[in-house]
Amino acid sequence: MTRRSVARAPAKAILLGEHFVVSGTRAVSASLGLYAYAEAEELKLWPSEIVSIELGLRVTIPGPDLSYSGPAELQPIAAVLRALRARDFDIPAFRLTIRSEIPDGAGLGSSAAASAAAALALAGLVGSDMSRDELFMVTMEGERVAHGNPSGVDPVTVVNGGVILFRKGDGVIDRHERLEGVSLVVADSGIRRSTMGPVSSVLSLLERLGSVKRHLLSAVDEIVGAAWESIRVRSFERLGMLMNINHGLLSAIGVSTPELEEIVYAARRAGALGAKLTGAGLGGSVIALAPFGSEGAVQEAMGRRARWATALYAGVQGASLISEA
Ligand code: PMV
Repeated sequence: MTRRSVARAPAKAILLGEHFVVSGTRAVSASLGLYAYAEAEELKLWPSEIVSIELGLRVTIPGPDLSYSGPAELQPIAAVLRALRARDFDIPAFRLTIRSEIPDGAGLGSSAAASAAAALALAGLVGSDMSRDELFMVTMEGERVAHGNPSGVDPVTVVNGGVILFRKGDGVIDRHERLEGVSLVVADSGIRRSTMGPVSSVLSLLERLGSVKRHLLSAVDEIVGAAWESIRVRSFERLGMLMNINHGLLSAIGVSTPELEEIVYAARRAGALGAKLTGAGLGGSVIALAPFGSEGAVQEAMGRRARWATALYAGVQGASLISEA
C-alpha cells in the first residue's frame, strides 16, 4: 500500500509588537482558524514532486540529495525538506501537495504555515514523531529563505498554536489557549508585498534614530507587556487602546499606508475597541478587536474597504498531523 500522510498548520496574526520584535521587544501573536494543508504520498521512484495548488506550480526534485532549482516561491519548502534530512529524517521519494486557505503576502503567516504542514506531513510519511521544538527549527529554515531575518514569531505561533507572548531568542515566554471574551476581526487589504522589504527598511530607520531607538523599543516592550496583562484579566478596552497606540507607532516608522489607515479608522468608527495593521505592513492585513455584538458591524465596515474581512477564531491548535497511512 502507498504510504500517505496529511498535516495542517494554522494562520497567525501578530496582535502587538511586529517589526520591533526583530530588534528584541516582546510580541503577542495568535494562531487563527484558517489553514495550510500538506499531503505527502510515497512514490516508488525518484524524482519527487512538490505541487502548490494556489500558486499553480509543480516542481521536480531529481534525487535524494534534495537539490532544488525551481521557482523562488517553493524555495522555502525545499529548505524545509533539506532541514529534515539534515536531522536524519530518511525521506523516501514523495509527492508533496500543498493547498492553503491563507492568502500569500497578507501578513497572516502563509509561508510558515505551509512550511510547518509540509515538514509534519513528510515526517508522518516515515512514521516519525517530531517534537514542537524540532518542528519549529525546521520551519524556521523555511522562514529564513522566505524572509531573510525572521524573529521566529510566525513559526512559533503556527507550530504551537494559542495566544503567545514571544521574544526572539526566548521563544514562548507565556501562552494562553485562546483569546476569550472578545472577537478578532481580520481584513485583508488585498495589497500584496514581501516581508523582507519592510523589515529591512524598518531596521535601517531604527539605526538612524540613534539614542531614540532604545526609548522607542522600551516603550513598545512596555506596551506589549501591558497588553499581555490586559489579555490575562480580560480588560479589552485597555487592550484595544494599547493596540491603537501600537498602530500609531507602526505608522510612525513608515509601514502603514493610506489604504490600511482607512480600514483601521473604519473599524474604530464601527465600534472596534482597537484596530491596527498586522505583520510587516505596507499592505497585507488589519486586525480589529470587536466587543461581542459589534463584530458584524466592524466586519462590514472593514470589508467595504478590503478584499475580505471576517471574524476568525484566535488561538486554535497548532500544526498537527490529520492522518497517516
Ligand atoms: O511576514 P509577516 O507579514 O507576518 O511579518 C512578520 C513579522 C515581522 O515582525 C514584520 C517580521 C518578523 O520576523 O518578526
